[in-house]
Amino acid sequence: MLRHTTVVAAASLALAGTMLSFAPNPAHAEPTIAVKDVVLTVGAKASQRNLTWLGGVGVDDYVQLVQHKKGKTVSWKGAAVIRPFSAATAGEETGWEYNKVALTKLATRSTYSYRICTAAGCTAEYQFKTTSSGDFSFLVYGDPQVYLGTKTGQNGVVENPSEGWAATLAESTGKVANAAFLMTAGDNVDSYTIAKQPGEWDAFLAPSQVASYPMAPAVGNHDNASNAGYLFNQHFALPNVSNLGTTAAGTGDYWYTYNGTLFMTLNTNSLDFAAHKTFMKQAIKANPKATWRVVSLHHSPFSSADHPNDADVTAIRTTLSPVFSALRINLVIGGHDHDYTRSFLMNGATVASSDADSSLKPHRGQVLYLATNSASGGKFYDLTGPYPWAAVKDQSLKANYTTIEVQSKKLVATTYEVGGRVIDRVSITRAH
Ligand SMILES: [Fe+2]
Repeated sequence: MLRHTTVVAAASLALAGTMLSFAPNPAHAEPTIAVKDVVLTVGAKASQRNLTWLGGVGVDDYVQLVQHKKGKTVSWKGAAVIRPFSAATAGEETGWEYNKVALTKLATRSTYSYRICTAAGCTAEYQFKTTSSGDFSFLVYGDPQVYLGTKTGQNGVVENPSEGWAATLAESTGKVANAAFLMTAGDNVDSYTIAKQPGEWDAFLAPSQVASYPMAPAVGNHDNASNAGYLFNQHFALPNVSNLGTTAAGTGDYWYTYNGTLFMTLNTNSLDFAAHKTFMKQAIKANPKATWRVVSLHHSPFSSADHPNDADVTAIRTTLSPVFSALRINLVIGGHDHDYTRSFLMNGATVASSDADSSLKPHRGQVLYLATNSASGGKFYDLTGPYPWAAVKDQSLKANYTTIEVQSKKLVATTYEVGGRVIDRVSITRAH
């Protein structure tokens, strides 16, 4: 019965893809095997992607991958066959195994089709596109915190985060159809108790976009489930995962590059700041010529609502933000506080410039921080303060998302309310 349900889920994924013009090959038969939670993630660099899915226990699943050629229909004959580099019984519902695959040597500006196969057959077709080299854009989502059903929040807003998350993904990828990847700032799912998370992970990974755009997720305190949240690792094949910063199994800090920019994602459930610093120094040493250094993490050090005075956030602000300045990080993207805050340019925890302009020219060691609001409408915290670091703050009680355009000399971050209003737009030039 379980199997049957998931086969339908795979088919509806492909159907949803049709609306986004990722059309399945009509000649291809309906899927005959059980898979779920199919999700692309960033690879170590722009020519790579990773793929994770849950399939049958002990089943020999593999991926077929085909690059589209101009004027030719997709043929699975002669498709590249890629086998998992990691597969093990999933630590949630019985009867599932997680599988992780690396897709490498991908060409720029290309469309690829893939499907997951076993001896019994193959799933429907999924598609993804690669970008050109050079300038690119990515999308950022704060705390989707997906759970099933609805609740009424503290401000009277009726929350439905699984529907809201799907709506935000649809609007944002419609706006930035060539987004290089989808970054989350953590709290992808809601339950602190791991036993309650499986259905939430299914709902978080249900929108078709997660099989067509690579994700770059952070680990939130909810995902972390009091250091037992190993389902995060089982759902995402991530590049360059370190032992440093690990809380739940496999959730350490990780890094990747995209067209010359270095991205470092920290698991701030770990307050081992020396470990985070060592990790960042290693990542920077491995990528000394990176154009920009961008950090993503869950616990925003500079926000304006419920959490700025929490002990963990205060420790991150006082101890980690000076490290970001010392390591010449350009931009730090966080979540956790379910409001939008753009900081002033900060030197450590100190305001370096009280310029709230939309076009900033940081000096060396000056860092811009963005705290992102909920991307699903799953929870909103009322603004508090004032706080000395807040240049722009907003609580729209509507789901938000942010686009970041990465150019060689400028980063531009634009934050939208779902439905269209621009909440904030800010650019930084490279430090001089
Ligand atoms: Fe959250």
